[in-house]
Amino acid sequence: MLKITFVCLGNICRSPMAELIFKNMLEKQGLSDKFEITSSATSNYETGNPIYYLAQQILSKHNINGSHTAKRISKQELASSDFILVMDSENYQDIMRINGVDKNKVFKLCDFTSNPRDVADPWYTRDFETTYNDILDGCTSFLEYLKSNNFLK
Ligand code: 4NP
Repeated sequence: MLKITFVCLGNICRSPMAELIFKNMLEKQGLSDKFEITSSATSNYETGNPIYYLAQQILSKHNINGSHTAKRISKQELASSDFILVMDSENYQDIMRINGVDKNKVFKLCDFTSNPRDVADPWYTRDFETTYNDILDGCTSFLEYLKSNNFLK
């Protein structure tokens, strides 16, 4: 069982989108029972809140359903995750600053792609389609990485 935790600032847009997109990808490929997937925030700004309505709307448009309640990442969750996949450089720095974090398991999601980059932050741009496409690209490439490096035995 591989535990993957997606992380962003608020845990209401990018990381819950990644959680549900990746879960959907795993379901389609019959791989769900090999994984435990969740998402968390680097902050407490949105703790207790549901997925932001525009993020939910773009997921629905792509036939991806599900819900999530925002929470800040805990020390326990950091320790128990095999991969901590952050959305951008700010998230990366925030996670790396936490005492005792195993730096070898922290990656930016789109660093697995052929075009390493931050996932576009839709909070001010309201462009959730670009965010969706970045996350889809990142999740596809990450799953390929796991397969070609024998993580899915
Ligand atoms: P997320 O988006 O990090 O992708 O969930 C944001 C949510 C809330 C805020 C910023 C970004 N905020 O400033 O409250």
